[in-house]
Amino acid sequence: MTKTNERHVPVLFQEAIDFLRVRPGGTYVDCTLGLAGHASEIARRLGSKGHLIGFDRDPEALALAKERLERVCEELGSQAPKVTLIGEAFSSIAEHVQGVSLDGLLADFGVSSLQFEEAHRGFSFQADGPIDMRMDTREGPTAAQVVNEANERELADLIYEYGEERRSRRVARAIVRGRPVATTGQLARIVASAVPAMKQERIHPATRTFQALRIFVNRELDEIRELLQAAPRLLKPSARLVVISFHSLEDRIAKDSLREGAQKGIWEILTRKPLTAGEEEIERNPRSRSAKLRAAGRQ
Ligand SMILES: C[S@@+](CC[C@H](N)C(=O)[O-])C[C@H]1O[C@@H](n2cnc3c(N)ncnc32)[C@H](O)[C@@H]1O
Repeated sequence: MTKTNERHVPVLFQEAIDFLRVRPGGTYVDCTLGLAGHASEIARRLGSKGHLIGFDRDPEALALAKERLERVCEELGSQAPKVTLIGEAFSSIAEHVQGVSLDGLLADFGVSSLQFEEAHRGFSFQADGPIDMRMDTREGPTAAQVVNEANERELADLIYEYGEERRSRRVARAIVRGRPVATTGQLARIVASAVPAMKQERIHPATRTFQALRIFVNRELDEIRELLQAAPRLLKPSARLVVISFHSLEDRIAKDSLREGAQKGIWEILTRKPLTAGEEEIERNPRSRSAKLRAAGRQ
């Protein structure tokens, strides 16, 4: 077990589990296993007739989640549910759970603490590493390829769109001038020198650019759209959907999709306003500060 694994605290844990309303014998999908914090609790509540289906497109995360869930199942003995793990993007859910009616679906978007803390994954500028940022390390361009090969206009557009960085043109110009850019530390320094932190700003000046590259490389927003489009057909009447997002772009997609679904009689919205972490949770786990949970019931 790694240190990260030991320290891992799932965000909005109790709230997510309560809204999911796990029933023994049911079939539940955790679309974002990560370190299996939420998934372990679902497994504990399912009983021997239950079925947990878990997705993670990151092979390292999937291997860790597998190890962790095996331990939970060993503990549970004859009360362990059936567990199926799928190392693919959750946008492919309809292909993998064909013919199964689900009782609940959980998605806790974004990067796990494991991905964020490991320098070689390149998600963070706190630890210097290669600019990778791919969740699925088996495919797709790395963020380094985007940073070094996209033209200035393309870079500026994606930093604006996915990072909501108003000074995106300046950032893009500095990156192009600073090429080749090899490490996350170098990239952070280039961005910080182009757009120094503004007064009262709590975040590092490179935060938005890093977010933008990550979202772009992993097609994160398309993934969420495709999942939310597929979900209604997979869930039984009265089954639950719980989504946790970490920034406004993700939350907007969830909010709009649920609202449209509610107008069409697909969803009953259970959280009029999204749930957020309390002070105590934020103190324990600063990452939970920006988390928003939305839940709905299939009508
Ligand atoms: C925030 S973590 C989930 C943490 C998890 N709830 C727990 O309790 O440990 C998000 C995980 O979802 C995975 N992920 C993100 N987007 C994905 C996608 N589109 N398809 C499959 N897995 C995805 C990431 O690789 C990461 O491991």
